[in-house]
Amino acid sequence: MLRRLYHEQPATFAFTPDNQKWAEAQTKKFPEGRQASAVIPLLWRAQEQEGWLTRPAIEHIAEMLDMAYIRVLEVASFYFMFQLQPVGSIAHIQVCGTLSCMICGAEDLIGVCKDKIADKAHTLSADGKFSWEEVECLGSCANAPMAQIGKDYYEDLSAARLSEIIDELAAGQVPVPGPQNGRFAAEPLKGLTSLRGYDSGKTKYNASVQAAVDIGDTVKRIDGTEVPLLTPWINDGSAAPQKPKAADKPKAAKPAAKKPIDKTGITKQEAVAKSKGKPEVQPAPAADVAEKKPRTMKAPRKAGADDLKRISGVGPKLEGVLNELGFWHFDQIAKWTDAEVVWVDSRLKFKGRIVRDNWTAQAAELATKG
Ligand code: FES
Repeated sequence: MLRRLYHEQPATFAFTPDNQKWAEAQTKKFPEGRQASAVIPLLWRAQEQEGWLTRPAIEHIAEMLDMAYIRVLEVASFYFMFQLQPVGSIAHIQVCGTLSCMICGAEDLIGVCKDKIADKAHTLSADGKFSWEEVECLGSCANAPMAQIGKDYYEDLSAARLSEIIDELAAGQVPVPGPQNGRFAAEPLKGLTSLRGYDSGKTKYNASVQAAVDIGDTVKRIDGTEVPLLTPWINDGSAAPQKPKAADKPKAAKPAAKKPIDKTGITKQEAVAKSKGKPEVQPAPAADVAEKKPRTMKAPRKAGADDLKRISGVGPKLEGVLNELGFWHFDQIAKWTDAEVVWVDSRLKFKGRIVRDNWTAQAAELATKG
C-alpha cells in the first residue's frame, strides 16, 4: 500500500499543554544530542491526541527533535501503526486478517465494516464517525477472530456482535472489550481443564478487560490529563532540564591504549576510522577552555549560502540557528578553534553536538569538495 501524506491537511498542529509537557519530558530521557530517539513516542502521542498524523504534526515533532522533516516522515510512513489519513471521530476499527482470524471468520467482520462504515479501508463513514482497516496478526490468535478498537481488543467476535459494537459506540456507549463469547480469557470454551485451583476465571473480567473497564473509555483521545506526568528519569521530578555534571561532559576520544598496530605507527582506532573513510574523532575542547566568538558574517556570500544540513547532525532548525549566529558556509565552520567551538556550543540547545558529530572535520571535507 502506498503510504503518503493525505491530500488535505490542517494548517497547524499543537500538542495540548499537558501533552507538550509530556513530550518535552520524553526528550530528556536521552543524552544530549540524541533527542531524535524520542521520535516514535512523540509521533504516537500526536496520533493519540488527533487520531491520525498530520503533516503539521510531523513537522512540529521534527522541529522539537531538531530532525529534518523527511526523516520524521520516513518513520511515520514506515510503520503501519501510524495513520496518515483521517480516522473516524469515534473509532478506527482494525480487523485482524491473518491466518487464525481468517479461518475463524475475519472476512465476515470485514464485510460488516464494509456495510456499516465504508466500502474501502481507510475511508471515513458517511457521518465521519468510523473508519476501518485490515491489519496483520495482533497476537490474540487464541481468541480469533478479533479486532482492535481504540486501545482495546474485542475478541471471539461474530459478525453480528461486531455490528452491535459499532452501533453501541455510535450511541456513545463503551462496550466491554475482551472475549465476546463468554470466555474469561483464552481458556477452552467449555472451561478450565487444568490449574483449576488458581484465580483464573474467578474474577469477573481478566486483568486487561478489568483495566479497560476501570478506565471506562477505550476509545477516548489522549489529551495528557489521563495520568499524572511521571518523569522519574528527571531527578527533581519536574520537566526542568538537568545541568550536566562536569563528569558527564564529553571526553576526548583516546586511541586504544595508544599502541600502534603496525610499523606505520597507526593506532587501532585510527585504522578503523580510516578504513571507514571517516574523519578521525574530533577531541572535545578541554573543560576549562574559555569561549571566543568566531568571525561571523551578516549575510551569505553572493553565490549563496552552503547547505549546512549536509553536515551530519545539522537539521533545518540547527541550520537556522547557525545562520542567525552568522554562519553560512562550510569553510567558516571548518576554521573554528576549540575556544570558538565552545562559544557556538554554548548557544545551541543540545550541547556537545559539534564535537560528537565532528562538525569541523565534516565541514572541512565539504568545503574542499565544494
Ligand atoms: S491471527 Fe488474528 S490475532 Fe493472530
